[in-house]
Amino acid sequence: MCGIVALIGSREAAPQLLEGLRQLEYRGYDSAGIATVDGAGMHCLRAEGKLVNLTQRFEAQGAPGQCGIGHTRWATHGKPEERNAHPHLDGSGTVAVVQNGIIENHRLLREELQASGVVFRSDTDTEVIPHLLGRELERLQAGVLSPDGRRPGGALLLRAVQAVLPRLQGAYALAVVWAEAPGALVVARKAAPLLIGLGEGEFLCASDTPALAGFTRTILPMEDGEVALLTPLGIELYDQGGERVERSPSLLSGTEHVADKRSFRHFMLKEIHEQPETAALWVARHLPDAPAGTAAGPLVALPLDGAVLEGVERIDVLACGTSRHAAQVGAYLLEQLAGLPTRVFYASEFRYSPPPLGPHTLTIGVTQSGETADTLAALAMEQERRQLVADPAYAPRLLGITNRPESSLGRMVDQVLDIGAGIEVGVAATKTFLGQLLAFYGLALALAERRLGLQAGGGTITRERLLALTAGLRAVPQQLRELIAEHDRQAEALAHRFESTQDVIFLGRGINFPIALEGALKLKEISYIHAEGYPAGEMKHGPIALLDAKVPVVSIAVPGAVFDKVLSNAQEAKARDAQLIGVAPACGDTELFDVLLAVPEVDELLSPLLTVIPMQLLSYHIAAHRGLDVDQPRNLAKSVTVE
Ligand code: AGP
Repeated sequence: MCGIVALIGSREAAPQLLEGLRQLEYRGYDSAGIATVDGAGMHCLRAEGKLVNLTQRFEAQGAPGQCGIGHTRWATHGKPEERNAHPHLDGSGTVAVVQNGIIENHRLLREELQASGVVFRSDTDTEVIPHLLGRELERLQAGVLSPDGRRPGGALLLRAVQAVLPRLQGAYALAVVWAEAPGALVVARKAAPLLIGLGEGEFLCASDTPALAGFTRTILPMEDGEVALLTPLGIELYDQGGERVERSPSLLSGTEHVADKRSFRHFMLKEIHEQPETAALWVARHLPDAPAGTAAGPLVALPLDGAVLEGVERIDVLACGTSRHAAQVGAYLLEQLAGLPTRVFYASEFRYSPPPLGPHTLTIGVTQSGETADTLAALAMEQERRQLVADPAYAPRLLGITNRPESSLGRMVDQVLDIGAGIEVGVAATKTFLGQLLAFYGLALALAERRLGLQAGGGTITRERLLALTAGLRAVPQQLRELIAEHDRQAEALAHRFESTQDVIFLGRGINFPIALEGALKLKEISYIHAEGYPAGEMKHGPIALLDAKVPVVSIAVPGAVFDKVLSNAQEAKARDAQLIGVAPACGDTELFDVLLAVPEVDELLSPLLTVIPMQLLSYHIAAHRGLDVDQPRNLAKSVTVE
């Protein structure tokens, strides 16, 4: 949550800071601010609301200096008002700090500072940091002069930050400037992301790669506990113990599609339309070329060291939100296709009520951003508790599924499946969901192939069955292309019917139950319409009481194990006057729907890859028709880096 940027070099910093914030605005947009320093002192601008407000303020007032920091906020402590916007300053107004994360012991620190006379101007947890730094700098400054009589500003700022950090509990990434040292910038991170981009004679730090993509391709991701002093001349990197660290930078990849809506009205719509490409890339990378039915080699090429899958007997998946829905589809595949008992947990619940440990367990963390704090914390906890068990059968095996292999998740797990969907800017996940689904198809097929002849939930695992599924997967990119073109038009035409809708029920069963959940989540987050996803058979046990002519029911009904049952459940809703919208193949059986969002008839196990499309487009068009900010819905942020 929140995005931070910091720049030091030999040109005016503010325009680049604002551009960096524009690229990070998906991380929060409650308020934004920048602070620059030059020989004349500190120049701090802040504005409530979206970045455009800050940009207007900058255009009117300016913020000179070749060194500065910036922040875009998702409110945690304190309302989204200007006084709570970052940067925060110390009492003298010479130290400015931006922070992403939560300082958990801020109350204690605030009380201590208040007792010594410090006056706070915001309700944030962050404001304790500039005050602590201000006090520390005052202490350090006394009598510290360089041989030429000048104060060694940068070194002093670094020492102050290093002295203050051990006092901060929680997770944070922060950047600090000091008016007395306009040629220095100090950044630090602990359990929140921060990367340093290396330009020519300048450095740009940011919470995430989109802010760096237009600046440089050479990056140095900071590790946990590290602190860096940046000057136009170079980087000094220190570990938690204050020891100097030397590490080579790496090259940024996959950021070509950054922040370009092309001709689409919103990023979300563009990203929905990019899904055939996501699928085609996945097929090209993971399904070897040999024609189906003739190859003796592996069915799926997964870039994994086989050891992580060797002897796996059960799987636990940790995830949040949309990623968790992808994991639920994945669990269905792993059980029905590969015969591996699989449990999916809310990452935020798992950490505080972990189930008993089982042997030979693969733990998978699913997070498109790779930075979701709940998921990272749950994985870390699982890793730690398994490391304490002497029996090697209980050793941790961690696999990550992410769109950001360079993220904190990527650095934490043993191996990563990169979904390769390209940057997703819309807060509502669409193409990354499809990418996560495909990663699970690959994983389930690879594990099923290792277990040929064994029993899975769906019967004996045979190579023929797996070959048929891989053939079906190859057809998905083209099916998506046609489906998206058709449903984009249909959903747009349908959207006006939802003008006064307040509640929508989504029904699905089996492998499409998570798609019903995903449909409901998409609608809620971008249109603010109350929506619930239910297993279709569960409706009669309570939710049916909600139904009347004002409550549309979206029912996913695809031929397979539960087709007839789902159609009966839809009939039950129709008998209560609900408006029935079917996501189903066009056939005699589906004539009961008032509106049919037709999907092609495919193997039931592959159907979620297609049934999710009408869900995404319907939500999108309903929200766009209502004139809402689809890409930046209220109260949300793209990556949730607080627990
Ligand atoms: C998706 O549309 C949501 N914005 C949200 O539920 C999201 O999936 C969740 O916060 C998890 O994010 P992650 O995949 O980056 O971990």
